[in-house]
Amino acid sequence: MCGIVGFVGNEQAAPIVLEGLSRLEYRGYDSTGVAVYAPEKGLQVRKAKGRLQVLSDQLHGGVDLPGTMAMGHTRWATHGVPSDVNSHPQVSTNGRFAVIHNGIVENYMEIKEFLMDHGVQFVSETDTEVVAQLLDYLYDGNLLETVEKMLHRIRGAYSFGIICADEPDKMVGVRKDSPLLLGYGEGFNFFASDVTAFIDRTREVSYLDTNEIAVVTREGIQVYNEYLEPVEKERHHVDWDISAAEKGGYAHFMLKEIMEQPEAIRKTISPRIQNGRVVLDDLHYEADYLNNLDKIYIIACGSSYHVGMAAKYSLEKLLRKPVEVALASEFRYCDPLVTDRTLAIVISQSGETIDTLTAMREAKRLGARVLSIVNVVGSTIARASDDVLYTWAGPEIAVATTKAYSTQLAVIDLLALNFAQTMGTIDQAEYDAILSDLQAIPDKLEQVLKQKDEIAYFASLYFNQSSIFFIGRHLDYAIGMEGSLKLKEISYIHSEAYAAGELKHGTISLIEDGTLVVALASYTPLFEKMISNVVEVKSRGAEVVGLTVDSHSEEMSKTADHIITVPDIHPMLLPSLNVVPMQLFAYYVALQRGCDIDKPRNLAKSVTVE
Ligand code: M6R
Repeated sequence: MCGIVGFVGNEQAAPIVLEGLSRLEYRGYDSTGVAVYAPEKGLQVRKAKGRLQVLSDQLHGGVDLPGTMAMGHTRWATHGVPSDVNSHPQVSTNGRFAVIHNGIVENYMEIKEFLMDHGVQFVSETDTEVVAQLLDYLYDGNLLETVEKMLHRIRGAYSFGIICADEPDKMVGVRKDSPLLLGYGEGFNFFASDVTAFIDRTREVSYLDTNEIAVVTREGIQVYNEYLEPVEKERHHVDWDISAAEKGGYAHFMLKEIMEQPEAIRKTISPRIQNGRVVLDDLHYEADYLNNLDKIYIIACGSSYHVGMAAKYSLEKLLRKPVEVALASEFRYCDPLVTDRTLAIVISQSGETIDTLTAMREAKRLGARVLSIVNVVGSTIARASDDVLYTWAGPEIAVATTKAYSTQLAVIDLLALNFAQTMGTIDQAEYDAILSDLQAIPDKLEQVLKQKDEIAYFASLYFNQSSIFFIGRHLDYAIGMEGSLKLKEISYIHSEAYAAGELKHGTISLIEDGTLVVALASYTPLFEKMISNVVEVKSRGAEVVGLTVDSHSEEMSKTADHIITVPDIHPMLLPSLNVVPMQLFAYYVALQRGCDIDKPRNLAKSVTVE
């Protein structure tokens, strides 16, 4: 995720801001930049694609930029590829405003068109430049009022740092649904997206709430609400050490990323839902092309492959087209049946997985059109595809994927709705029902996450198991596969996922007294069949943790030893909720076993060798 740090005080600011940015490097980024104000030089901006060290070397650690007020940014590309020009700060054409930004401005295109109609010329592809130019367009000599007007024109989830050359020694910080903190010192003050950025200089902080605006000077910080009424902020003393601070106070990146999922999904879906419709601006698929498809191939590895397993059910149901899901490492060697009427959907968090990349090239060579779903903007797979849809999960640091997986699922849901509407294979009532439940996922996930202590308790009961089985049917089976992979990759416990109906064909012989079976039974049409499977394994001595929806909790608790529930939701969207208890269970089991959770043995975050 992007990082923000701003400082105003009595010392030279650029070295302090570069130091703050270095503490945000762990979050992942692809470019950096700083804006410094000095009375004799005005507003100066320096940016560079790549590592912070590149920028720091160019500026001799910041010494080259005089001035006691500065703000800096580490960018994780969303709108526009990583490049010098797309890096932040973004500056208005006349150089009056510099803006750094985390998050997404959803209506940036309409504002950009409005400003272009008024003669404004843009140099970058970013939504952030739109904000810098809009501020300049609205500026009436009062920075605070101009920021307030700007906030009423934009939509999205964001935090901003703003400097105006006409109002020196004053920085403005704003947030809506993307964190921004204030740091209070003696003769200096900060804003930052993360306490790590300034924890070496002050531990006195307050947290901006949504729609609050902070005016930061060296003498103090004044916070206003969106109507410009002053707000008194409560201060907190942070006693975390640096490494805990990097993880936002969580013990591991994996847990932090699990907890970030509601926000990651919100960011991925909300800009793409406009006036009750899914709008995928970057895609241009005609009804004729889609209706003539002979097949959709989904190609991926690991957890991304498991997203494909879930996607098969929803795409086939809504589009009435055959969907084949292939492991990328198998696809290229299986002489696949691909024609120019085949659409290949390639899923990858990193966009660099070599198996997926080579399989994708093979699909293209055989005539398929390739649509990729990727998290890392500008990655090799994204660049080599015909079309790309980005998941906006932000950087994922833990090797075990969580929020990238969830946002991939969300993108598949958007795609299924969009294609089905284009093809005419969905009626309006069904479309509206799914879309409305899709938008409810982040809030429902917050409820699921509240059960984490209970799931930690179940983990404490079962962390010593030598083998754990996940059973489910239909979409629950696909989620069982992901739950099983999560568990084995970080806890090193042997685990398997089975389609529950397959048990009697061999697998059930593995069940003995005390074996833990996690039974996923949330898919209503097959709930009763799942209960029969739970009875089968229990009568062979298994202990069962059942996962179901609230409306089946009573029934499930009659059979399973323990239950976890998720809120009811349209069946197609169940995986988005069900996967989270599986992630938490794997996490707490691994924690009990003392494993290296963020960096499990023998594994790499991005697998770039075959
Ligand atoms: O970056 P990708 O999505 O292409 O990576 C694919 C797999 O390597 C990845 O999902 C892996 O299985 C994860 N470690 C699972 O948590």
